[in-house]
Amino acid sequence: MPVSFSDNAKLETRGVSVTFGGFNALTDVSMSLSAGSVVGLIGPNGAGKTTLVNVLTGFQSPSSGEVLLGTEAVGAHSPFALRRLGIARTFQAGRLFTGLDVLDNLAVTGTGLGHSRRAAEEEARSVLDWMDIRHLSDLPASGLPYTDERRVGIARALMYRPDFLLLDEPAAGMSEIEAEELSQLIARIASELGIGVLLIEHNVGLVLGVCEQVYVLDAGQIIEQGDRATILASQAVRDAYLGASHEEAA
Ligand SMILES: Nc1ncnc2c1ncn2[C@@H]1O[C@H](COP(=O)(O)OP(=O)(O)OP(=O)(O)O)[C@@H](O)[C@H]1O
Ligand SMILES: [Mg+2]
Repeated sequence: MPVSFSDNAKLETRGVSVTFGGFNALTDVSMSLSAGSVVGLIGPNGAGKTTLVNVLTGFQSPSSGEVLLGTEAVGAHSPFALRRLGIARTFQAGRLFTGLDVLDNLAVTGTGLGHSRRAAEEEARSVLDWMDIRHLSDLPASGLPYTDERRVGIARALMYRPDFLLLDEPAAGMSEIEAEELSQLIARIASELGIGVLLIEHNVGLVLGVCEQVYVLDAGQIIEQGDRATILASQAVRDAYLGASHEEAA
């Protein structure tokens, strides 16, 4: 998987709002993600993090505002169209094809993207090798331990090297050691593959350790953005989210 930065070097939202009935899930959210960087998105339960990922990946249309991939407005594109354009994601709950083995879980993404079965299997093997999990290839996805299921979800998203990868709570349920391994993997995805990674996590220590830039959502609004020091120093963040765990994360 050679690194090649495409023209789509930036994925961003400008003034995006999403309403469900009368409820404002996102209000005027502007954020951006560049190729090769790792950006964090944190916030309490129900803050709107998954909704923002859904907007960026075509699973949810914004009620107002724009989604831009490079200079192209893509807010009305389907998830499939956006995956073809290089925006991949994982889901909060695994969502592997449980009737298939691991290799096939990756290969169907490749055939879905228009590649031959043979080419897709080759790409799948190369991704599994790159992640050092080729030994999982022939195992049924249904029987995987939780952490392996997460890894396979990431491997599937890496098929045909997207430009952007959006990870929705990939460390949930992992041990501290597993979470540390995951953070090393995320850093490699950005630095070796040149992919822009958006990391949603409740594990604030993990986010602050691996992300250059962090956005904080609360009740659908971005209440803070900046580097580790800015987030840790923010009274707004402390009030809204970090609370007592602030000292811990520092
Ligand atoms: N399809 C929907 N219809 C109605 N309300 C929704 C819908 N999707 C999300 N919501 C609401 O929007 C708000 C934001 O939800 P979202 O799932 O984006 O939060 P989150 O930050 O990902 O939370 P968590 O940390 O629990 O995953 C919540 O109040 C949720 O109940
Ligand atoms: Mg969520």
